[in-house]
Amino acid sequence: MKQIAILASGNGSNAEAIVHHFRATGEAEVAMIITNKPQAGVIQRAERLGVPCHYFTNAELREGTRPIALMKEHGVELIILAGYLCLITPTYIMEYPERIINIHPALLPSFGGQGMYGDRVHAAVIASGAKESGITIHLVDEDYDHGRHLLQATCPVRPDDTVDTLAARIHELEHRFFPTTIAQYLRFL
Ligand code: GRF
Repeated sequence: MKQIAILASGNGSNAEAIVHHFRATGEAEVAMIITNKPQAGVIQRAERLGVPCHYFTNAELREGTRPIALMKEHGVELIILAGYLCLITPTYIMEYPERIINIHPALLPSFGGQGMYGDRVHAAVIASGAKESGITIHLVDEDYDHGRHLLQATCPVRPDDTVDTLAARIHELEHRFFPTTIAQYLRFL
């Protein structure tokens, strides 16, 4: 069975949606979750789900040797970034070319690039007056938010939206489309 690793720094709701999806379909397995935040909500979720969770420091993660060795040891073929706030260095891209997928909570190329993550993205979308936002699921290459798009899905931005209400709408899209987009990509590996 194809093995997946999820890298996450936050609450981990996308990680959980992905675990549930592949447990239900049996098409792949989440071999591990890796985090760079010792307090991240994703750690409790992993425990509850019974998925091995590994913490590495930012320096270890950027350097890559130990996390990559761990993933290789477990036969990981695809890396999913699900709210991962640490740099993916060229080592990862060399070891996993076209095998790293990220989700961005807006419609790239708008509202992307360095420093555009989490609530900052939603605040920028609201401040711009855009009538529509959405998600972008894309392959990861050397440049921030740059690789080939696998899927975009949209939702309205309402006049009375706050960062929280827009974030909630975006999360719904993420949970709906991220697992299935990963599954579709896996079928071609
Ligand atoms: C998501 O909105 C994702 O697009 C962004 O970070 C958030 C992570 O949410 N990159 P969660 O930790 O999966 O709940």
